[in-house]
Amino acid sequence: MSATPAIPGYTYGTAAVPRAPMSLDEFDLLKKTVLFTNDDVKALQQSRAVLQSQVEPILDVWYGFVGSNPHLVQSFIRVADGQPDMDYLGAVRKRFGQWILDTASGQYDQVWLDYQFEIGRRHHRLGKNTTDKVAAAPHISFRYLPALLYPVTATLRPFLEKQGHSPAEVTTMHQAWIKSVLLQVILWSHPYVKAGEF
Ligand code: HEM
Repeated sequence: MSATPAIPGYTYGTAAVPRAPMSLDEFDLLKKTVLFTNDDVKALQQSRAVLQSQVEPILDVWYGFVGSNPHLVQSFIRVADGQPDMDYLGAVRKRFGQWILDTASGQYDQVWLDYQFEIGRRHHRLGKNTTDKVAAAPHISFRYLPALLYPVTATLRPFLEKQGHSPAEVTTMHQAWIKSVLLQVILWSHPYVKAGEF
């Protein structure tokens, strides 16, 4: 087995990630609420085999979308000169690629749950910019987090179709992805919600 090269700032499963402020039992109730079942885990795992060779073209589409929307690219803009921080974009892109594989792995255990809250903090002023030690826009407005769920998942479907699965299988994988991203965006919202109201 070859070791995966380390991705800068990807602290999944390390002691640097604090414990999630939510238990796995509470997370089970959330899964139940979005109708996320073991069949979705299987569909995600099936999607991993389809997507793992397509990570870069998927990222091209998603980065193309963010890059062509000034209000979104804003979050990668350096405060000092108002220009996009290309090193920051590149560093986040690597972790984003790993996120595709982690999401498709469907192993939503304690370590995964902990990292979701870390991803939430990294979008919020609590933790944005610190991982890559950049001086970019300090915060991402909450409203864009759930909004991005739609383009991210809608544009994934053509990639799920690329390896000859039936339309029904593609739909099952796609629905599992939509539910998973919804769950994650809910977890990432934690720092945006008033204390005690999450
Ligand atoms: C469905 C919605 C979204 C998904 C799936 C998503 C996914 C991700 C992932 C996987 C990372 C890297 C996490 C890590 O460090 O391991 C990340 C970081 C980041 N995302 Fe998002 N994101 C979403 C919404 C947004 C929106 C709406 C914006 C801005 C308009 C945004 C801008 C950023 C930035 C700037 C970072 C780097 C944060 C930092 O560590 O400084 N994201 N995102």
